[in-house]
Amino acid sequence: MDIRAIQSTDLDGIVDLLARTDAFDDEERQVARELVEDAIHRPDESGYHALVAVEPKSSGGSVLGYVLHGPTPMTEHTHDLYWIAVDATRRGQGIGRKLVAALDQTLRAEGGRIVRVEASSVADAPATLAFYHGTGFVECGRIPHFYGTDDDLVIFYRDLGA
Ligand SMILES: CC(C)(COP(=O)(O)OP(=O)(O)OC[C@H]1O[C@@H](n2cnc3c(N)ncnc32)[C@H](O)[C@@H]1OP(=O)(O)O)[C@@H](O)C(=O)NCCC(=O)NCCS
Repeated sequence: MDIRAIQSTDLDGIVDLLARTDAFDDEERQVARELVEDAIHRPDESGYHALVAVEPKSSGGSVLGYVLHGPTPMTEHTHDLYWIAVDATRRGQGIGRKLVAALDQTLRAEGGRIVRVEASSVADAPATLAFYHGTGFVECGRIPHFYGTDDDLVIFYRDLGA
C-alpha cells in the first residue's frame, strides 16, 4: 500500500468508497465529494488537502482510504482532520492508522503542531471514537447537546511536538 497526496484520478475511487460507507448518508457523501474536489482542484483557495491510501499499481492501484485535512484558519500551526474513511472491506487492517501517521509526517514537515478532530457522540459510531482514542488523539472537550438533544460535540487533539 502507498500513501500519497491526492490526484484527480482518485476521485472515482473515493466516490465509490463513500458510496459503500454506511456511516454516511447521501448528504454527507455529497459534502465529502465536494471537499475532495476542492482538495484536487483548489487546494490553496479552499484550504482542503487530502492524502490517499492506494493499492500498488501492480495490484490495480485502487483507493483504499483517504484523509481530508487543512490548516485551521486564524491559528499559527493547527490543522483540522476533517474527514477520514477506509474502504468497508479493508477496515481493521491498520490503514486508518497509517493514514494518520502519514498525516502527522506531512504536517510536521510543514511546521504543523496541533491536529484537531471534531466528532459527534451519536452520528460517529463507537468504533470511530475508539479509532481516534486508539490512534493517539486525546479527548479534550465536549459540548453537550451541540448537534442535537443528547448528541454532543466531542473534540480530540494530538500534539505533534509531544
Ligand atoms: C474510522 C476508520 C477510518 C478507521 O480505519 P481502520 O483502517 O479500520 O482503522 P485501523 O485498522 O487503522 O485501526 C487503528 C486503531 O483504531 C482502533 N479501532 C479501529 N477500529 C475499531 C473498532 N471497530 N473498535 C474498536 N477500536 C477500533 C484500534 O485501537 C485500532 O488499533 P489496533 O488495531 O492496533 O487495535 C474506518 O473505520 C472508517 O472508514 N469508518 C467509516 C467512516 C468514518 O466513520 N469516518 C470517521 C468520520 S469522518
